[in-house]
Amino acid sequence: MREEGMYSWRNPWFRWSVVSLVTFTVVSVLVGFVWLPSVHRDFTAQGLWASICRAAGVPSTWSDSGGTGKDVPQATNVVLERSMARIAGSASVGRGGTLALNCTMCHGAQGMSASSAPNLAGQYPEVVIKQLHDYQAAKRASSIMEALAARLSDRDIEDLAAYYAYLPKARTAPTTYDERLPALVRVGAPLRNIAPCISCHGGVDQKLGAPWLEGMPKDYLVGQLQALRSGKRRNDSEAQMRNVVRSMTDAEIEEVTTFYAGKASAGGER
Ligand code: HEC
Ligand code: HEC
Repeated sequence: MREEGMYSWRNPWFRWSVVSLVTFTVVSVLVGFVWLPSVHRDFTAQGLWASICRAAGVPSTWSDSGGTGKDVPQATNVVLERSMARIAGSASVGRGGTLALNCTMCHGAQGMSASSAPNLAGQYPEVVIKQLHDYQAAKRASSIMEALAARLSDRDIEDLAAYYAYLPKARTAPTTYDERLPALVRVGAPLRNIAPCISCHGGVDQKLGAPWLEGMPKDYLVGQLQALRSGKRRNDSEAQMRNVVRSMTDAEIEEVTTFYAGKASAGGER
């Protein structure tokens, strides 16, 4: 009689080791690639593949439910390009001005809002272009702006951006180092990886796509910072702004928004 082979299926030890190895592998894969990543808050927004890609990470907050759900807008589609910061030769300020008649009710006759809608006067053109495309694609949530942006063509958006860039932002004072600035605005918070606001938001230096903030209505600024902090707004490219605001306290939000909103200069209408 032939001796039972060590690697034969009839050998119970061999059978058991194969079965346990397969089970163990399947369970580890499920845990590592599906379960752990699924606890990340972006899981529903980004799907299985994204979660597999990040599977090496372990969730930082297990129970953080902020910003989950299918109706939360996802990251932007807009790829910012230097050319968007220049007003294209083909853009028509005059035509933009006509289109902007639909916007004055909220954004002000000269792009200086009297409500809690943001000012658009002097806003960097690539900001207006990017934000309007984000509303169009429902990447930034606002029932009013999503509906209005849906009706705009690419040409309309270009002309509106040219028009608003052309309006003077002279009624809001630029931020410089020669004044008293909140610490976060001037130096940021290096220990928390927060870069100074002034290094991105203009006045001294502007990062492509970072909006002009000076003179914006305070309620608007507070609302946007809270939405970015909670993940309700997530259309900022590479989470640049979410990374800044993530560890900011309510008191810090109060301080920086008071500062920026207060930069409506004496010549302002409000
Ligand atoms: C009924 C009021 C209303 C009208 C009309 C309106 N807007 Fe807005 N707009 C808003 C509000 C409110 C916000 C801020 C929404 C949010 O929380 O994202 C906004 C935001 C924006 C932003 C983003 C600005 C930023 O700094 O991020 C742009 C750009 C913009 N609107 C352009 C327009 C244009 C162009 C029109 C005309 C075609 C227009 N809006 C008409 C109320 C309005
Ligand atoms: C690394 C660059 C960077 C730094 C530093 C930074 N921001 Fe931003 N911020 C951005 C960009 C880029 C956007 C536009 C996001 C988008 O495309 O929707 C933005 C958007 C915002 C908005 C929304 C404005 C609007 O009209 O849509 C506010 C408010 C804001 N930042 C405030 C601040 C404050 C206050 C600080 C300092 C504590 C700060 N930011 C620091 C890059 C930065």
